[in-house]
Amino acid sequence: MPKKILVLNGPNLNLLGRREPEIYGRATYADLEREIHAAAARWRLAATVKQSNHEGVLVDWIQAADGEFAGIVINPAAYTHTSVAILDALKAVALPAVEVHLSAIETREKFRQHSYISPACLATITGHGFAGYDEALALLAAKLVTN
Ligand code: DQA
Repeated sequence: MPKKILVLNGPNLNLLGRREPEIYGRATYADLEREIHAAAARWRLAATVKQSNHEGVLVDWIQAADGEFAGIVINPAAYTHTSVAILDALKAVALPAVEVHLSAIETREKFRQHSYISPACLATITGHGFAGYDEALALLAAKLVTN
């Protein structure tokens, strides 16, 4: 049975394709979901992909992942830069987690350069667009083999 990974996307990522295409590209959220499922299959993982614009919903999904999933990939979007609640939820469940950002947050506005989420993650992948999710799944696949 492939190991199950929860892939969470935060606010406004549902608008991919329309939203600031010069930063995030023209591919849509449905395209991203397809790419994540294809990448997961390549790494012999099964991805459940969810998106919410609400912080508490993301926290609920992280809590519910305990015992259900082997790892988490998360693009917390704007909550990256504000959410102690998401950091605490990831720490509480203590599942291996990888943080992904489509854009290179470290080169953008000052307020995007700090992530509250990174301390709870094995790795943070930035600036690789959709390929960042593939890299995150690869990291989790490698980590789960050695566990
Ligand atoms: C983002 C970067 C965040 O700063 C921003 O708020 C997002 C998307 C990214 O994927 O590059 O919504 O997480």
